[in-house]
Amino acid sequence: MRKLAAGNWKMNGTAASLSEVAALLRDHPTPVCEMLLCPPATLITQMAALAKGTALHIGGQDCHAKSSGAHTGDVSASMLMDAGATHVILGHSERRTDHAETDAQVNAKAVAAIGVGLVAVVCIGETEGQRDAGQTLDVIGTQLAGSVPDGSTAATLVVAYEPVWAIGTGRTPTLQEIADVHRFIRERLTAKIGAEAAGVRLLYGGSVKPSNATEIFAVPHVDGALVGGASLKASDFGAIVAALSAA
Ligand code: PGA
Repeated sequence: MRKLAAGNWKMNGTAASLSEVAALLRDHPTPVCEMLLCPPATLITQMAALAKGTALHIGGQDCHAKSSGAHTGDVSASMLMDAGATHVILGHSERRTDHAETDAQVNAKAVAAIGVGLVAVVCIGETEGQRDAGQTLDVIGTQLAGSVPDGSTAATLVVAYEPVWAIGTGRTPTLQEIADVHRFIRERLTAKIGAEAAGVRLLYGGSVKPSNATEIFAVPHVDGALVGGASLKASDFGAIVAALSAA
């Protein structure tokens, strides 16, 4: 299995930010791990042009479940593909919170994405209240069952475990807590999609940075990271790519 360092730029970046991508490609032309950057939709075409013929993949941050139609402000999976994306993040906690996305909607989006040939990066994660109440594995199990399409394969699905309380806060779970959740995700995925689950990349996300990447990547069943803030700077994301390549 090839590990995956994925960056989520969220609602950050303009054409001027592409210099960071050029720097990343200059410093890490042939990483051992796979690299993915998911910029705002406005930058996908330009970033994909920059990444053409390199080891960097480009992804969207969301897509609509329908292929076209009267959905102002939305972008379809085939549009992402047309713009040069190969992946799409779905069900990020900010989408689930800001846009009230449900597991069923995330599932429908993943079906649409996989249907046009994109890799679906499905995000799940508990809130702080749910963790404090001892509900973490229940929440993860429910989100996984609802959000991951039946028939997903190692080639079409990536799962990102992102505790909501660790996103953008500088706080992370203990390595044991990450290990427990990732093992549970692998088990549940195996029950759902069978042997393919062994090859599905399970990413940890939430305050991953160069200083904690190496220890997180040593946790069993952590096959990469989904990185927010630290993916905006080539030097930080590059250090995470290097840590994952060495893991
Ligand atoms: P962060 O965000 O790395 O800034 O915590 C992670 C994410 O939301 O994907």
